[in-house]
Amino acid sequence: RIRNNWSGQQFPHAGRRLPLVGDLLTFQPSRPIQSMLENSVGLGPIFELQAFRQKIVFVGSVELAAELCDETRFGKALPPAVEALRDYAGDGLFTAHSDEPNWQLAHELLMPAFTKSAMASYHPIMVETATELFDYWRPRIADGPVDISRDMTKLTMETLSRSAFSHDFGSFSTAKPHPFVKAMVSALENGRRKGAFRAIPGGEVLARLADRRYAHHQAYNDRMLDELIAARDGSTDQHDLLGIMLNVAHPETGEKLSPVNIRHQILTFLVAGHETTSGALSFALYFLARNPQCLARAQAETDEILGDDPAAMPSFEQVSKFRYIRRVLDESLRIWPTVPGFARSPRETTTLADKYTMRPQDYAVVSLGLVHKDPAVWENPDEFDPDRFLAVNVKKRPAHSYKPFGAGARACIGRQFAIHEAVLVLASMLHRFDLSGDPDYQLDVDERLTMLPRGFELSLRARSPQM
Ligand code: HEM
Repeated sequence: RIRNNWSGQQFPHAGRRLPLVGDLLTFQPSRPIQSMLENSVGLGPIFELQAFRQKIVFVGSVELAAELCDETRFGKALPPAVEALRDYAGDGLFTAHSDEPNWQLAHELLMPAFTKSAMASYHPIMVETATELFDYWRPRIADGPVDISRDMTKLTMETLSRSAFSHDFGSFSTAKPHPFVKAMVSALENGRRKGAFRAIPGGEVLARLADRRYAHHQAYNDRMLDELIAARDGSTDQHDLLGIMLNVAHPETGEKLSPVNIRHQILTFLVAGHETTSGALSFALYFLARNPQCLARAQAETDEILGDDPAAMPSFEQVSKFRYIRRVLDESLRIWPTVPGFARSPRETTTLADKYTMRPQDYAVVSLGLVHKDPAVWENPDEFDPDRFLAVNVKKRPAHSYKPFGAGARACIGRQFAIHEAVLVLASMLHRFDLSGDPDYQLDVDERLTMLPRGFELSLRARSPQM
C-alpha cells in the first residue's frame, strides 16, 4: 500500500549519497536508530534516509509532530519494518491496517480490558510476578550485580503471559528460556531481517528463504496458542485477556473475534507489551542509579506510602500515589522512548509544513528521540529532571511534545498496563533494595524491536526495616 517516494521531493540527508545503496554507509546496521539520531544534527526538522529502494522521511520537531498527530488529517501508517511483522502477528491490533474490519472490532472489544479500572484484575498478577523476581534475586545478590535488562524482560514477559492467557513460562525457576519465548524471539528476528531484505533489489527471494528457515518457530508458537484457545472452548470462568476475547461479544452487532484473530492478538500483546515495558523499567533504573538525589526522593516516597516493612507490596490503590516515581518513568521515556517512533500518512493528499505535498501512499516517521528533545520546547533536553512532569510544567508545554505511547486512535492500548506495572515494580524494588551501578558503565543501547540498555547491571542490597 505504501510507496513513499513523496512525488520525488527531496529532503536533507546526511553525508554523501552513493548510487544504489544510497545513505546506507552513513549509519551502523547494528544501531540504525541511534546512527540516524546522531546524523540528524543540522539537517532541520524534516530529513530523509534512503537505502536501496527504501526512502524514509523523518520529522524531529514538536511543531511537525503536532501536525502529523492531527487525527483529522493523518492516521497510522505501516512502514515496511512493521508490515514485515504481519507475517507473525497478522491483523492483530498493532499490525492491522486501520481500515481492516478486525482492527475496529478488536479495538472496541478490547478497550475495556485496558482501562485504568481494569488494571485491578491484573494487579495481583503483577504483584505475584514482581515478588518472584525479588525472591529470585535474594540468594543471588551477594554474589555480584544483577543484569537489569535481562531480568526485567523476564519479569514483563511473565506478567503478560499470565495476564493474557494465564500461562506461566517459569522464567524464574528454570535456567533455560521456555521454547515459546525462544521461538518468539527467533520469529521476530526473522521479521526484522525480512524488512531489511525487502529493501534490496531481488530481496524478496532472500525473505522467502529466511521464512523457510524460521517457519518451524512460527509454527510452534501458532500451534501452542491454537491448542490453548481450543482447550478453553466453552469455558467462561477465566478472566484473563484470552477469556475476555473468547467470551465478549460486540454490544451492538454481537460479533466476536475469530480464533485465528485471537491468536494474533495474544502474539501482539506479548510482542508489543514486554520489551517496551522492560526497557522503560531498565532506563528508569539506569537514571536513578546515575542521580542519587532522585533515587533518595523516590525511596523517601516509597517509605512514606509503604511504611516500615521493606517487603511491603503496594495495593492497587497505592500504585497511583507514587507521583514522583511516575515522573521518573515519564522522564526516562522522554530521554529514551523505548518505541523510538511511529509512522503517519495523510488521509487525503495534503501539504505538510505549508510546503511539502504528501499523498496517502507517503508516510513520515515521528522520531521521538528528536521530538522529545526539541530545544524549542525542552530546556537542557539531555538533563534528567523528573520534575518536568509536574502538572504545572506539563501545562506549559504544547500538546504533542511528548508522545511515547503514540497518537490518536492507534495509540498504545496497553499504556495503563505498562504504567501500572512499571510504577508497581519500581516502587516495590526501591523499597526493598538499595542499589548502585558501576560508575564506569557507559550506556550502551541495544536496538531490537525496541530500545533497551545492554549490559546494564546493578548491585542490590536488602534494605533493613525502618525504626
Ligand atoms: C501501540 C508504545 C506497552 C500493546 C503502541 C504505539 C506506541 C507504543 C508508540 C503506537 C505505535 C504506532 O503508532 O505505530 C508503548 C510503550 C510501552 C508499551 C512505550 C511501554 C512502556 C504496551 C503494553 C501492551 C501494548 C504493555 C499490551 C499489554 C500495544 C498495542 C498497540 C500498541 C496492541 C497497537 C494499538 C492499535 O493500533 O490499536 N505502543 N507500548 N503496549 N501497544 Fe504499546
